[in-house]
Amino acid sequence: MAQITDPLRQHDWNSEEYVEDWAQRQMRNETLRARQFALMASLVPFENEAAFRFMDVGCGYGALSKYLLETFPRATAVCHDGSAAMAKLGGERMKELQGRFEYVISDFSKKDWSRVAGGEFDVVVSCNAIHNVRVGETIKAVYGEIFGRVRSGGRFFNLDRGSATMEDQLAWFKSAGFQDVTCHQKSSGLSLYGGSKP
Ligand SMILES: C[S@@+](CC[C@H](N)C(=O)[O-])C[C@H]1O[C@@H](n2cnc3c(N)ncnc32)[C@H](O)[C@@H]1O
Repeated sequence: MAQITDPLRQHDWNSEEYVEDWAQRQMRNETLRARQFALMASLVPFENEAAFRFMDVGCGYGALSKYLLETFPRATAVCHDGSAAMAKLGGERMKELQGRFEYVISDFSKKDWSRVAGGEFDVVVSCNAIHNVRVGETIKAVYGEIFGRVRSGGRFFNLDRGSATMEDQLAWFKSAGFQDVTCHQKSSGLSLYGGSKP
């Protein structure tokens, strides 16, 4: 299997040991993150009982996917990640939601990475993942590919960190083709951006 690389070499997402340790530390912050997930869920343009399909890009062990699948009990998810170790952990952690999600693996820094996801999505979400490619032009390319996977009228939300400015983020969303592009919440940690596909 292809391995994903962190250009800054801060993370080793391919290592089961590293992923396990990262997840243990991250899980301590889930209460804090739940507030941000709740804000994102409130912006999803569906009623709680609606059946819709979403993709979570760089899903990791599925914190955001799990939150959304529990909030929207008829939704289904494609959990995308480049790390088989994360997918394994996510599969275990979301066992009780089996049948409503599937993991797909590819490296989003590479062209055509979203082909593994198949079809279009009503909503695409991502949390704390896309900044890992580090380079603005690559983030722009990731957004462009996401645009191709969102159905007309659908939404993309990215809750992310990194060195990009708010202006950069809004410009990358717009250059991908999204409209109604907004920063829903700016913070020193994760900031929430969103846009819709015309
Ligand atoms: C900081 S974790 C966040 C995981 C999850 N979204 C969360 O918020 O808990 C970053 C995730 O992005 C994935 N990732 C990093 N670089 C990637 C790449 N080039 N292609 C695909 N996934 C990547 C990692 O495997 C990891 O699961």
